[in-house]
Amino acid sequence: MKTGIAGKVCIVTGGGSGIGRASALAFAAEGAKVVVANRTGSKAEAVAAEIRAAGGEALALQVDVSVGTEVQEMIGVTVATYGGLDILFSNAGISPNGSVTAISEEEWDTCLAIDLKSVFLGAKYAIPAMQKRGGGVILNTAGTLGIRPTRDKAAYGAAKAGVINLSKAIALDYGPDNIRCNVICPGYVDTPLTAHIDAAARDAFLARSQALHGLIRAEEVAALAVYLASDAARMITGQAFVIDGGQQAGMLW
Ligand SMILES: NC(=O)c1ccc[n+]([C@@H]2O[C@H](COP(=O)([O-])OP(=O)(O)OC[C@H]3O[C@@H](n4cnc5c(N)ncnc54)[C@H](O)[C@@H]3O)[C@@H](O)[C@H]2O)c1
Repeated sequence: MKTGIAGKVCIVTGGGSGIGRASALAFAAEGAKVVVANRTGSKAEAVAAEIRAAGGEALALQVDVSVGTEVQEMIGVTVATYGGLDILFSNAGISPNGSVTAISEEEWDTCLAIDLKSVFLGAKYAIPAMQKRGGGVILNTAGTLGIRPTRDKAAYGAAKAGVINLSKAIALDYGPDNIRCNVICPGYVDTPLTAHIDAAARDAFLARSQALHGLIRAEEVAALAVYLASDAARMITGQAFVIDGGQQAGMLW
Protein backbone atom coordinates (compact mmCIF):
# COMPACT_ATOMS: atom_id res chain seq x y z
CA MET A 1 0.00 0.00 0.00
CA LYS A 2 1.25 3.50 -0.84
CA THR A 3 1.57 5.65 2.28
CA GLY A 4 1.67 8.99 0.48
CA ILE A 5 4.66 9.96 2.63
CA ALA A 6 7.18 10.10 -0.22
CA GLY A 7 8.36 13.68 -0.77
CA LYS A 8 6.75 14.94 2.45
CA VAL A 9 8.74 17.02 4.93
CA CYS A 10 8.85 15.50 8.39
CA ILE A 11 10.39 16.56 11.71
CA VAL A 12 11.08 13.95 14.38
CA THR A 13 12.07 15.30 17.80
CA GLY A 14 14.14 13.07 20.00
CA GLY A 15 15.17 11.67 16.62
CA GLY A 16 18.64 10.81 17.86
CA SER A 17 17.66 7.76 19.89
CA GLY A 18 15.13 5.01 20.52
CA ILE A 19 11.61 5.54 19.14
CA GLY A 20 12.61 8.82 17.47
CA ARG A 21 15.59 7.29 15.69
CA ALA A 22 13.55 4.33 14.48
CA SER A 23 10.81 6.71 13.29
CA ALA A 24 13.23 9.03 11.48
CA LEU A 25 14.64 5.99 9.65
CA ALA A 26 11.14 4.68 8.89
CA PHE A 27 9.87 8.02 7.51
CA ALA A 28 13.04 8.34 5.41
CA ALA A 29 12.54 4.80 4.09
CA GLU A 30 9.08 5.95 2.93
CA GLY A 31 10.76 8.75 0.97
CA ALA A 32 10.19 11.66 3.38
CA LYS A 33 12.71 14.46 3.84
CA VAL A 34 13.46 14.09 7.52
CA VAL A 35 14.62 16.70 10.01
CA VAL A 36 16.21 14.85 12.91
CA ALA A 37 15.93 17.12 15.95
CA ASN A 38 17.64 16.26 19.20
CA ARG A 39 19.01 18.04 22.26
CA THR A 40 22.34 16.29 21.79
CA GLY A 41 23.34 17.39 18.32
CA SER A 42 25.82 14.54 17.74
CA LYS A 43 23.00 11.98 18.11
CA ALA A 44 20.91 13.84 15.52
CA GLU A 45 23.92 14.00 13.19
CA ALA A 46 24.50 10.25 13.50
CA VAL A 47 20.90 9.40 12.54
CA ALA A 48 20.87 11.91 9.67
CA ALA A 49 24.09 10.30 8.41
CA GLU A 50 22.43 6.86 8.59
CA ILE A 51 19.53 8.17 6.50
CA ARG A 52 21.84 9.72 3.91
CA ALA A 53 23.96 6.55 3.73
CA ALA A 54 20.78 4.65 2.85
CA GLY A 55 20.08 7.11 0.01
CA GLY A 56 17.58 9.31 1.89
CA GLU A 57 17.41 13.03 2.59
CA ALA A 58 17.94 14.32 6.12
CA LEU A 59 18.93 17.36 8.11
CA ALA A 60 20.21 17.23 11.69
CA LEU A 61 19.29 19.99 14.13
CA GLN A 62 20.32 20.52 17.73
CA VAL A 63 17.14 21.59 19.49
CA ASP A 64 15.93 21.74 23.08
CA VAL A 65 12.20 21.13 22.58
CA SER A 66 11.33 22.82 25.88
CA VAL A 67 12.58 26.22 24.65
CA GLY A 68 10.15 28.18 22.49
CA THR A 69 12.75 30.10 20.50
CA GLU A 70 14.57 26.86 19.61
CA VAL A 71 11.35 25.14 18.48
CA GLN A 72 10.40 28.20 16.43
CA GLU A 73 13.85 28.13 14.81
CA MET A 74 13.52 24.38 14.13
CA ILE A 75 10.33 25.01 12.16
CA GLY A 76 11.84 28.05 10.41
CA VAL A 77 14.99 26.18 9.31
CA THR A 78 12.87 23.23 8.13
CA VAL A 79 10.64 25.46 6.00
CA ALA A 80 13.66 27.40 4.65
CA THR A 81 15.48 24.16 3.77
CA TYR A 82 12.67 22.04 2.34
CA GLY A 83 10.00 24.61 1.42
CA GLY A 84 7.38 23.61 3.98
CA LEU A 85 6.36 21.17 6.70
CA ASP A 86 3.92 18.25 6.46
CA ILE A 87 4.54 16.00 9.48
CA LEU A 88 5.68 16.84 13.01
CA PHE A 89 6.40 13.95 15.36
CA SER A 90 6.86 15.50 18.82
CA ASN A 91 8.46 12.53 20.47
CA ALA A 92 11.36 13.79 22.60
CA GLY A 93 10.93 13.11 26.27
CA ILE A 94 12.45 12.19 29.60
CA SER A 95 11.11 9.77 32.16
CA PRO A 96 12.04 10.85 35.69
CA ASN A 97 10.95 8.99 38.80
CA GLY A 98 9.50 10.38 42.01
CA SER A 99 6.33 10.91 44.00
CA VAL A 100 5.18 14.48 44.74
CA THR A 101 7.01 14.67 48.07
CA ALA A 102 10.18 13.18 46.59
CA ILE A 103 10.67 15.58 43.69
CA SER A 104 11.61 19.25 43.83
CA GLU A 105 9.65 22.04 42.15
CA GLU A 106 12.53 22.30 39.66
CA GLU A 107 12.27 18.60 38.77
CA TRP A 108 8.52 18.99 38.25
CA ASP A 109 9.04 22.04 36.02
CA THR A 110 11.75 20.33 33.96
CA CYS A 111 9.63 17.24 33.34
CA LEU A 112 6.54 19.25 32.41
CA ALA A 113 8.61 21.48 30.12
CA ILE A 114 10.28 18.65 28.20
CA ASP A 115 7.38 16.19 28.16
CA LEU A 116 4.34 18.50 27.83
CA LYS A 117 5.25 22.09 26.99
CA SER A 118 7.30 20.76 24.05
CA VAL A 119 4.12 19.37 22.49
CA PHE A 120 2.41 22.75 22.86
CA LEU A 121 5.44 24.54 21.37
CA GLY A 122 5.77 22.10 18.48
CA ALA A 123 2.12 22.45 17.51
CA LYS A 124 2.09 26.21 18.07
CA TYR A 125 4.91 26.84 15.63
CA ALA A 126 4.25 23.99 13.17
CA ILE A 127 0.57 24.67 12.56
CA PRO A 128 0.97 27.98 10.68
CA ALA A 129 3.43 26.24 8.30
CA MET A 130 0.98 23.35 7.84
CA GLN A 131 -1.91 25.75 7.22
CA LYS A 132 0.11 27.31 4.39
CA ARG A 133 0.53 23.80 2.98
CA GLY A 134 -3.22 23.05 3.14
CA GLY A 135 -2.88 20.43 5.89
CA GLY A 136 -0.54 18.29 7.89
CA VAL A 137 -0.08 15.63 10.54
CA ILE A 138 1.00 16.05 14.15
CA LEU A 139 1.94 12.99 16.16
CA ASN A 140 2.85 13.15 19.82
CA THR A 141 4.34 10.49 22.05
CA ALA A 142 2.64 10.09 25.42
CA GLY A 143 2.75 6.69 27.13
CA THR A 144 0.45 4.27 28.91
CA LEU A 145 1.28 6.05 32.19
CA GLY A 146 -0.61 9.02 30.76
CA ILE A 147 -3.73 6.85 30.72
CA ARG A 148 -3.27 5.04 34.02
CA PRO A 149 -0.56 6.18 36.45
CA THR A 150 1.80 4.10 38.49
CA ARG A 151 3.73 4.75 41.69
CA ASP A 152 6.81 6.96 41.77
CA LYS A 153 6.19 8.68 38.40
CA ALA A 154 4.03 11.66 39.43
CA ALA A 155 5.39 14.37 37.10
CA TYR A 156 5.87 12.01 34.15
CA GLY A 157 2.33 10.61 34.39
CA ALA A 158 0.83 14.08 34.74
CA ALA A 159 2.79 15.36 31.72
CA LYS A 160 1.84 12.40 29.55
CA ALA A 161 -1.85 12.67 30.54
CA GLY A 162 -1.59 16.29 29.45
CA VAL A 163 -0.10 15.23 26.11
CA ILE A 164 -3.13 13.01 25.42
CA ASN A 165 -5.66 15.74 26.26
CA LEU A 166 -3.71 18.42 24.39
CA SER A 167 -3.46 16.21 21.29
CA LYS A 168 -7.25 15.85 21.24
CA ALA A 169 -7.67 19.61 21.66
CA ILE A 170 -5.32 20.24 18.72
CA ALA A 171 -7.27 17.72 16.61
CA LEU A 172 -10.53 19.55 17.37
CA ASP A 173 -9.15 23.03 16.77
CA TYR A 174 -7.31 22.34 13.50
CA GLY A 175 -9.34 19.58 11.85
CA PRO A 176 -11.03 22.25 9.69
CA ASP A 177 -7.53 23.11 8.37
CA ASN A 178 -7.00 19.48 7.36
CA ILE A 179 -4.48 19.03 10.17
CA ARG A 180 -4.73 15.71 11.98
CA CYS A 181 -3.31 15.12 15.45
CA ASN A 182 -2.94 11.74 17.12
CA VAL A 183 -1.01 10.45 20.09
CA ILE A 184 0.97 7.25 20.54
CA CYS A 185 1.01 5.61 23.96
CA PRO A 186 3.75 3.02 24.20
CA GLY A 187 4.07 0.61 27.08
CA TYR A 188 7.55 -0.68 27.87
CA VAL A 189 9.73 -0.21 24.80
CA ASP A 190 13.30 -1.46 24.48
CA THR A 191 15.22 1.82 24.05
CA PRO A 192 18.13 3.62 25.77
CA LEU A 193 15.49 5.25 28.02
CA THR A 194 14.73 1.90 29.66
CA ALA A 195 18.21 0.36 29.30
CA HIS A 196 19.16 1.12 32.92
CA ILE A 197 16.41 -1.15 34.27
CA ASP A 198 17.68 -4.47 35.58
CA ALA A 199 16.87 -7.16 32.99
CA ALA A 200 15.60 -9.76 35.47
CA ALA A 201 13.30 -7.25 37.20
CA ARG A 202 12.11 -6.01 33.81
CA ASP A 203 11.33 -9.51 32.53
CA ALA A 204 9.45 -10.41 35.72
CA PHE A 205 7.44 -7.18 35.46
CA LEU A 206 6.59 -7.75 31.80
CA ALA A 207 5.66 -11.38 32.37
CA ARG A 208 3.12 -10.39 35.03
CA SER A 209 1.78 -7.24 33.38
CA GLN A 210 1.66 -7.83 29.60
CA ALA A 211 -0.78 -10.16 27.84
CA LEU A 212 1.85 -10.80 25.16
CA HIS A 213 5.36 -12.01 25.90
CA GLY A 214 8.46 -10.05 25.00
CA LEU A 215 9.82 -6.56 24.53
CA ILE A 216 8.25 -3.97 22.26
CA ARG A 217 10.77 -2.75 19.68
CA ALA A 218 11.21 0.91 18.73
CA GLU A 219 10.66 -0.11 15.09
CA GLU A 220 7.17 -1.35 15.98
CA VAL A 221 6.27 2.05 17.44
CA ALA A 222 7.77 3.70 14.35
CA ALA A 223 5.56 1.56 12.10
CA LEU A 224 2.50 2.88 13.97
CA ALA A 225 3.75 6.45 13.50
CA VAL A 226 4.18 5.89 9.77
CA TYR A 227 0.67 4.45 9.50
CA LEU A 228 -0.86 7.39 11.42
CA ALA A 229 0.95 9.87 9.16
CA SER A 230 -0.07 8.01 6.01
CA ASP A 231 -2.96 8.67 3.64
CA ALA A 232 -4.59 5.46 4.90
CA ALA A 233 -5.20 7.24 8.23
CA ARG A 234 -6.85 10.21 6.47
CA MET A 235 -9.94 10.15 8.72
CA ILE A 236 -8.20 9.33 12.00
CA THR A 237 -7.65 12.25 14.37
CA GLY A 238 -7.83 13.04 18.06
CA GLN A 239 -7.09 9.48 19.12
CA ALA A 240 -4.62 7.83 21.48
CA PHE A 241 -3.10 4.59 20.20
CA VAL A 242 -1.76 2.15 22.72
CA ILE A 243 1.09 -0.20 21.83
CA ASP A 244 1.82 -2.08 25.02
CA GLY A 245 1.61 -5.83 24.53
CA GLY A 246 -1.86 -5.74 26.08
CA GLN A 247 -0.81 -4.17 29.38
CA GLN A 248 -3.75 -1.74 29.47
CA ALA A 249 -6.34 -4.33 28.40
CA GLY A 250 -7.13 -5.28 31.97
CA MET A 251 -5.64 -6.44 35.25
CA LEU A 252 -3.50 -9.53 35.30
CA TRP A 253 -3.08 -11.02 38.75
N1 LIG B 1 10.88 3.54 26.09
C1 LIG B 1 9.71 3.40 26.68
O1 LIG B 1 9.43 2.37 27.32
C2 LIG B 1 8.67 4.48 26.57
C3 LIG B 1 7.38 4.21 27.06
C4 LIG B 1 6.39 5.18 26.96
C5 LIG B 1 6.69 6.41 26.41
N2 LIG B 1 7.94 6.65 25.97
C6 LIG B 1 8.19 7.98 25.40
O2 LIG B 1 8.74 7.83 24.10
C7 LIG B 1 9.51 8.98 23.78
C8 LIG B 1 10.85 8.53 23.25
O3 LIG B 1 11.49 7.77 24.25
P1 LIG B 1 12.62 6.69 23.95
O4 LIG B 1 12.28 5.49 24.74
O5 LIG B 1 12.88 6.59 22.53
O6 LIG B 1 13.83 7.41 24.73
P2 LIG B 1 15.34 7.76 24.33
O7 LIG B 1 15.96 8.27 25.58
O8 LIG B 1 15.96 6.61 23.61
O9 LIG B 1 15.15 8.94 23.28
C9 LIG B 1 14.69 10.20 23.68
C10 LIG B 1 15.46 11.26 22.90
O10 LIG B 1 14.94 12.53 23.26
C11 LIG B 1 16.02 13.41 23.41
N3 LIG B 1 15.64 14.52 24.29
C12 LIG B 1 15.44 14.50 25.63
N4 LIG B 1 15.13 15.72 26.06
C13 LIG B 1 15.15 16.54 24.98
C14 LIG B 1 14.92 17.92 24.78
N5 LIG B 1 14.64 18.74 25.82
N6 LIG B 1 15.01 18.43 23.54
C15 LIG B 1 15.31 17.63 22.49
N7 LIG B 1 15.55 16.31 22.62
C16 LIG B 1 15.47 15.78 23.85
C17 LIG B 1 17.14 12.58 24.01
O11 LIG B 1 18.41 13.18 23.78
C18 LIG B 1 16.95 11.27 23.25
O12 LIG B 1 17.72 11.27 22.07
C19 LIG B 1 9.58 9.81 25.05
O13 LIG B 1 8.62 10.85 24.98
C20 LIG B 1 9.20 8.82 26.14
O14 LIG B 1 8.62 9.43 27.26
C21 LIG B 1 8.94 5.73 26.02
